[in-house]
Amino acid sequence: MPKAVIVALDFPNKQETLAFLNQFTEEKLFVKVGMELFYSEGPAIIREIKSRGHHIFLDLKLHDIPNTVEKAMSVLATLEVDMVNVHAAGTIDMMAAALKGLTNQAAKQSKKRPLIIAVTQLTSTDEARMQKDLLISSSLEETVKVYAQNAKTAGLDGVVCSPHEVQMIHEVCGADFLTVTPGIRFLDNDKDDQVRVTTPEKAKQLGSDFIVVGRPITKAKDPVLAYKNCQQAFLK
Ligand code: C5P
Repeated sequence: MPKAVIVALDFPNKQETLAFLNQFTEEKLFVKVGMELFYSEGPAIIREIKSRGHHIFLDLKLHDIPNTVEKAMSVLATLEVDMVNVHAAGTIDMMAAALKGLTNQAAKQSKKRPLIIAVTQLTSTDEARMQKDLLISSSLEETVKVYAQNAKTAGLDGVVCSPHEVQMIHEVCGADFLTVTPGIRFLDNDKDDQVRVTTPEKAKQLGSDFIVVGRPITKAKDPVLAYKNCQQAFLK
């Protein structure tokens, strides 16, 4: 799949989601549906968004025993989304099981398998917290690197990471290993609750394959213009 801007649909319900999407009369977007929207509206919201021709990253970050994740992924594959994810902390076996569930279900339906990526460490977890609460004694950078390698070993397509980790991840996992990077802000935006932010131009320069952009587009005065500017900056 070519590089793309993924718009985070962090809305609480269908009504607000469709009001946002209705502004895009021509563009086919790549959107991210997270836990809040999916848990409130269920699979119907996926079908609704797909019927409008948009691509979907279903961001549910699965983490459970391998057998449970494999079965859950078989169900998600029936929704025919374009991208899903898991926590790398679930182990290589769990990630491989997730991939197996997706692959088998997609083959059964003669459909393309959704891309599957791993979350390494959440950006809300800093090194001190990771070492103290999770008892991981390595540095954050080393942990992100090894978790990305584990995802690659399990056969996954890529990871969610900071734009600043893209180069290191491409070095250890290969240029084809996808990097999906949130924490994007335009120069004139507030940082909101993001700590380290990157512009779309900088993310492109650092080699991000997909950028995930929420509030700079969803809360813009003119979301369509903000999306077009973002796309232009990231893809030009
Ligand atoms: O509004 P904003 O651009 O900050 O939204 C970023 C999106 O990316 C949100 O849906 C957020 O949950 C997600 N995300 C993130 N940082 C991560 C992983 C996901 O901001 N490390």
